[in-house]
Amino acid sequence: METVVSGIRPTGNLHLGNYFGALRNFIQMQNEHNCYFFIADYHSLTTHPTPQDLHGNVKQILVEYLAAGLDPEKATLYIQSDVPETAELYLFLNMNAYIGELERCTSFKDKIRQQPQNVNAGLLTYPTLMAADIIIHRATKVPVGKDQEQHLEMTRTFGNRFNRMYNVDYFPEPQAFNFGQQLVKIPGLNGSGKMGKSEGEGNAIYLADEPEAIRKKVMKAVTDSGPTEPNQEKPEVIQNIFQLMKVVSSDETFNYFDEQYNKCQIRYGDMKKQLAEDMITFTAPFREQIKAYLSDEAYISRVAAMGREKARESASKTLREVREIIGFKSF
Ligand code: TYM
Repeated sequence: METVVSGIRPTGNLHLGNYFGALRNFIQMQNEHNCYFFIADYHSLTTHPTPQDLHGNVKQILVEYLAAGLDPEKATLYIQSDVPETAELYLFLNMNAYIGELERCTSFKDKIRQQPQNVNAGLLTYPTLMAADIIIHRATKVPVGKDQEQHLEMTRTFGNRFNRMYNVDYFPEPQAFNFGQQLVKIPGLNGSGKMGKSEGEGNAIYLADEPEAIRKKVMKAVTDSGPTEPNQEKPEVIQNIFQLMKVVSSDETFNYFDEQYNKCQIRYGDMKKQLAEDMITFTAPFREQIKAYLSDEAYISRVAAMGREKARESASKTLREVREIIGFKSF
């Protein structure tokens, strides 16, 4: 049995990228492993320092975790800020993390382009906080999408460095994980390459979206003027639509439109209509469950309390040992 850790930032509702990159794995892994799945509310402050309704955003993700099938009896579901030991481990890791390596991180470079008015120290040290999340439970597997690969590499660097500096074999090496295959990157609908909350209007399909909203977004998805030669290679925007179809539609449907494309007979309008209907069918059970859980305040607070207790138990044990290893002792 492996120890598994992963988290999602509460900066918007969960979309199909989060689902196929991470959540789908959470649901499978909870049956076989010792799992900790959390809501990364500390991390969300790096991009949203004064959120309108942080508590409401956290509740929404917790509800969406439950709606998607996470079982608080099997996995530990918790909120990052409920485990302040995370912040202490982050502090220790920051002492041994170097500005140069943090500045070279791709996500830092992206963020300083996206928010030049707010290049804060939290953005720079995002990878040490993420490493703290993971190694605080001494995890070995981390289900994430492709965009998190470099953060996992850095997590291994920080864990190994701790072991080396204090001459211990304490933190295991965590690996990014996706069930049986490569890490995935789910594309968005507006040609931006990646489905994401900050990738522009109409780019993401959310689990909580109503059918009409899904139809509207899919019908507006970027396409081209169509193939001109049989079996020609698909340009990226078209590959994106096909990739989305691959994850929500049947093989038969996918193959049908693939053939139409190869015969230069494709009608993108028909393909999008089909894709929208398949996305609506795919998200329907989530939509229903989200509504049901949202109104059950008592259950939500029970789940959060249970998660807090289990996560703190594991985290405080690690911090006790880490303090001892570094040499902090009480008088
Ligand atoms: P976040 O909140 O951006 O995304 C949550 C998870 O969803 C995956 N994801 C995608 N996967 C495939 N295709 C996409 N288009 C797509 N968009 C998002 C992400 O890879 C991620 O797995 N830094 C993390 C949160 C975090 C974390 C952690 C994760 C904080 N601490 C510790 C694992 C372990 C993040 O910003 O994810």
